[in-house]
Amino acid sequence: MRTRTGLKMLVLCLGTLATASAFAAGDAEAGRSKAFTCMGCHGVPSYTNAYPTYHVPKLGGQHAQYLVSALQSYKSGQRSHGTMRAQAANLSDQDMEDIAAYFASRTE
Ligand code: HEC
Repeated sequence: MRTRTGLKMLVLCLGTLATASAFAAGDAEAGRSKAFTCMGCHGVPSYTNAYPTYHVPKLGGQHAQYLVSALQSYKSGQRSHGTMRAQAANLSDQDMEDIAAYFASRTE
């Protein structure tokens, strides 16, 4: 009984991994130019925007899938931050995948 449950868990985990890699289909090279406007806020040293001074989250090195789902939440209004909602509103699903792949490939 125990072993069977363990096996089932393993299969479930492998299934999740397969889905995760399917999500990583973004094109980091295309994302680089699409992310140009984002860098004005997210690419600054120490992740504090110059003016007005406020903190922005670091995106480099984040999991692509996390970034995509964050962007989708801003677009759908699930996340209510005004600035990011406006940013995400213009992005297609492909844009989000590409931009996420680009940030995920960066280390800073
Ligand atoms: C005007 C400044 C500004 C611009 C331009 C901007 N962002 Fe943001 N971004 C922010 C701020 C501030 C937050 C934090 C919002 C919050 O607290 O929900 C944020 C949050 C995020 C998050 C969530 C991070 C997390 O850890 O949950 C993602 C993803 C993101 N931005 C992606 C982008 C992308 C992609 C672009 C370009 C299309 C972009 N941002 C452009 C200021 C900006």
